[in-house]
Amino acid sequence: MDKMVIVGGEKLAGEVRISGAKNAALPILASSLLVDGWNTFHNIPDLLDIKTIKKLLKSLGVEMEGEETLRINAGGITQCEASYDLVRTMRASILVLGPLVARMGEARVSLPGGCAIGARPVNLHIKALRELGAEVALKDGYVEAKASRLKGAEIYFDISTVTGTENIMMAATLAEGTTILKNAAREPEVVNLAEVLIGMGARIHGAGSDVITIEGVESLHPADAKVIPDRIEAGTFLIAAGITDGDIRITGCEPLHLDALIAKLRDAGMSIDTAEDTIRAKGGGILRSVDVKTLPYPGFPTDLQAQIMALMAVAVGLSVITETVFENRFMHVSEMIRMGADIVIQGKSAIVRGVPKLHGAPVMATDLRASASLILAGLAAEGTTVLSRVYHIDRGYQQIEKKLSALGADIRRIPG
Ligand code: UD1
Repeated sequence: MDKMVIVGGEKLAGEVRISGAKNAALPILASSLLVDGWNTFHNIPDLLDIKTIKKLLKSLGVEMEGEETLRINAGGITQCEASYDLVRTMRASILVLGPLVARMGEARVSLPGGCAIGARPVNLHIKALRELGAEVALKDGYVEAKASRLKGAEIYFDISTVTGTENIMMAATLAEGTTILKNAAREPEVVNLAEVLIGMGARIHGAGSDVITIEGVESLHPADAKVIPDRIEAGTFLIAAGITDGDIRITGCEPLHLDALIAKLRDAGMSIDTAEDTIRAKGGGILRSVDVKTLPYPGFPTDLQAQIMALMAVAVGLSVITETVFENRFMHVSEMIRMGADIVIQGKSAIVRGVPKLHGAPVMATDLRASASLILAGLAAEGTTVLSRVYHIDRGYQQIEKKLSALGADIRRIPG
């Protein structure tokens, strides 16, 4: 398994271009299952999770060609089963469930099971599919769903769920009648997917608000659409500028999607200027602690919680970081403590007392965003940090070591 070696202390400077959003590309690729014909999707990132969903779609008989611009055709689907081997490596594989039932009338998708950051059940996806009239059974670790044609319904999500909203929005496009999703997720990735579906001929209103209305149609047609920039990647580079006291121009991004983070970083003392699709982020010397609470969009994203914790670990003062979205998302804490951070977990909160310096250490990535936070900590630390289980970072950050090196970081990958 590859390792990443980081020698801390370099101030990052220069320009970095943001790739397409993983969490938008995944549902958009799954949406190809709704259509018979060649879709063209632009700005697809080159990531491990994208390879996984492509493998899954290919196993169903979906044809594809290209990489960053991907042409994809689900006209010749030969089967409707997503196996355990494919789903267990990536929970988002559940996104094929809604489109498969809607178009093919049946689907058999392995239950994702637990994962490093909590139980993360799919009960809300299943409940909503039942409300659309599907017969759903849980058998031998699989979700088995059937419906000759789904029927529009009013669906209330108990918890705001991103992939749940996406799955059911896709399924409802081909249902008979109107579906209203209440307490729908408002994430920009949901809006991006809705735009793609509208490009396919779907009738969707309200994406981006917590009520989404979908009038079902008989069939959809291929679309030509673009994946939005990855706000979590952009946010990670913003924090990299802060933690190294650097000066970075982040291009090809959408600053409006980063309001919650930018507000916090300004409060901490960073200087941040935004333009249409660029952000200039400057460190600002010694930063102050700020409190952070993760929430569904437009609140502070849970996917940036670990990264801002790395920053708070070296800020002046006490910061309370509260995780409300997932129940077990503090695995990076013990690794940061190994690097000299002063952090105590109290229930859903981490109390971070800033220290003047972190120290390089061997650390282990436990999940995607935790690994990003450890790289950030390594960039700020004195000495050498060796991060193992790098495959986690490859799931969601395109060529992170190349992008960081180009900004002056001392980081290299050791193949293993
Ligand atoms: C998506 C993102 C992930 C991000 C998360 C929250 C993708 C591919 N992944 O994950 O990067 O961290 O949103 O912004 O887009 N829940 C249930 N039952 C369900 C579904 C969810 O209880 O059926 C709970 C989860 O355990 C969690 C909360 O709802 O506590 C939110 O999870 P959800 O928004 O569904 O996360 P994902 O869509 O899996």
